[in-house]
Amino acid sequence: MVDDQAPATSFSNRDFRNVMGCFATGVTVVTTCGAAGELVGMTANSFSAVSLQPPLVLFCIDRGANCFAVFEAADSFAVNILTAEQTNISAIFSSNDDDRFAKVGSHIGRTGAPILEQALATIECTVHARYDGGDHEIVLGHVRQMHMRQDQQPLLYYAGSYSTLAAT
Ligand SMILES: Cc1cc2nc3c(=O)[nH]c(=O)nc-3n(C[C@H](O)[C@H](O)[C@H](O)COP(=O)(O)O)c2cc1C
Repeated sequence: MVDDQAPATSFSNRDFRNVMGCFATGVTVVTTCGAAGELVGMTANSFSAVSLQPPLVLFCIDRGANCFAVFEAADSFAVNILTAEQTNISAIFSSNDDDRFAKVGSHIGRTGAPILEQALATIECTVHARYDGGDHEIVLGHVRQMHMRQDQQPLLYYAGSYSTLAAT
């Protein structure tokens, strides 16, 4: 480990969340399809672009998530960037709902992962690498296909709440 000699942390999980909440993000639903054909998806704001050549993106998944095992075994995933109108979809995909895909329109994309209808953008990936991220796993994806809409605004997440861009 590179930080073996670092001093012990002096802040609580709440402090950490509060400070990280200062970083405004978009909101995505990351999806995949399991070996038995089951569709899984999870709201995630840990999404980030990583590399242009090759085109790489990442998201981080909690090792304790119910859907972790399916994502761990999958060789592809899709990132669906939500619009300002899709707060309900973010709520569905971060809830205890077992039947998430029954409540949203979707179709299977080129890599086999479900694509949510009406998303602001979708990014279809094959898994490029996985890294240890403490209680999360960092999943790096090689982008294979993308789609975007230009007639909608993004959903934002800031300080633990949903937000939207201010009208200009
Ligand atoms: C705005 C928002 C962003 C989230 N981002 C992440 C994330 O990046 N990684 C993660 O593992 N969970 C994240 N979560 C929590 C998961 O969406 C939630 O725990 C989900 O229910 C996990 O899937 P499961 O039901 O299969 O356990 C986020 C939740 C919200 C509301």
